Amino acid sequence: MVIAVIGCGRIAQNAHFPALSKVEGLRIKYACDLIIEKAQAMKEKYEMVENVITDYKIALADPEVEAVFVLTPNFAHYTVTMDALRADKHVFCEKPVTVNYALSKEMADEANARGKILNIGVCNRYHKSVEMLREMNERGEFGNIYHVYCSFRSHRSIPGLGGAFTTKAESGGGVLIDWGVHFFDLILYILGAPELKTLTCNSYNEMAKDIKSYTYKSMWAEDTMDPEGTNDVDDMITGFIRTSSSSISFNGAWAQNIGHNEMFIDFMGDKGGARLAYGKKFTFYSGDTLESFEPEYDIPNMYLCEDEAFFESCRTGEKNRSHIDNILNSMLLLDTLYQSAERGEEIRL
Ligand SMILES: NC(=O)c1ccc[n+]([C@@H]2O[C@H](COP(=O)([O-])OP(=O)(O)OC[C@H]3O[C@@H](n4cnc5c(N)ncnc54)[C@H](O)[C@@H]3O)[C@@H](O)[C@H]2O)c1
Repeated sequence: MVIAVIGCGRIAQNAHFPALSKVEGLRIKYACDLIIEKAQAMKEKYEMVENVITDYKIALADPEVEAVFVLTPNFAHYTVTMDALRADKHVFCEKPVTVNYALSKEMADEANARGKILNIGVCNRYHKSVEMLREMNERGEFGNIYHVYCSFRSHRSIPGLGGAFTTKAESGGGVLIDWGVHFFDLILYILGAPELKTLTCNSYNEMAKDIKSYTYKSMWAEDTMDPEGTNDVDDMITGFIRTSSSSISFNGAWAQNIGHNEMFIDFMGDKGGARLAYGKKFTFYSGDTLESFEPEYDIPNMYLCEDEAFFESCRTGEKNRSHIDNILNSMLLLDTLYQSAERGEEIRL
């Protein structure tokens, strides 16, 4: 397979290039970034990278390129993906699909109209813990999961303050679209894609109202921080969702004046429950024996799994768990939560 990677920033360097380098027979004909040094660094590190470019349209015009990876900031997902689909390429696009539901739906429609695969980077769907919890739910081991609670809260984690992450026009939002996207997507996946009924949400932008007065010990994406830039996104979010199966309540914070990081999801069933430590393992609590256990298993590289699953879909044409058609609902959920926060009222779908 011949591909191009568009965007050679953090997720490309830390996750996808290392994963792609393990895929047998893969040719990365182009590594592309607006900042040529980033693409060049990938070429120097990975022998399989053949060319470096700054204009992704060169890769799209090359008939040998069958698929592209879109690893740019959120707002650019839409334009680059639409251009790639129109050039008859399959696309793997990082999460979130893009900055809102309407544009995400257009991307899905374009991919389906052209018969091209469009997969989204919902890596957690390939996490062994998530796969196991989904199977346990399918086997009825929880009984009825009547409620899910999730917390994605950190003491100090606003990323690249003043840059693309905190500028709504570029990111689509803050902690909800950046972290919540993973939590809600994996919850809906484990629950078996329930229908969304009502959603209500409040969002807050309190911790860095004045960018210059935000105090922190470390900041991820600090290289793209801009003290003169914008911060118009949610740094804290809370809400409640009713679905056709479980209800879901949640709290998320990129920053809070509580000195704890709490990243977990509780699945509450009438026969059993589970707490999933996000990105790690889970504990199952039996309602009958009152015992708990932590199953033993290895956690494979979820980025490699999602990348290989994408290539398999390109070969077979079959839509898999990360196909856009299976992700749109989590995008609708995020979008509706933001609308609820803006309008200050519950929304019924
Ligand atoms: N799946 C995950 O767990 C995960 C983790 C981190 C980031 N992400 C997602 O990955 C995406 C990238 O995040 P990041 O942290 O790597 O950002 P980043 O800023 O480090 O990298 C993005 C790169 O894209 C380049 N770029 C922007 N527009 C371009 C264009 N038109 N053509 C070519 N290159 C272009 C930028 O120069 C930059 O180097 C975001 O959408 C983010 O939400 C996903």
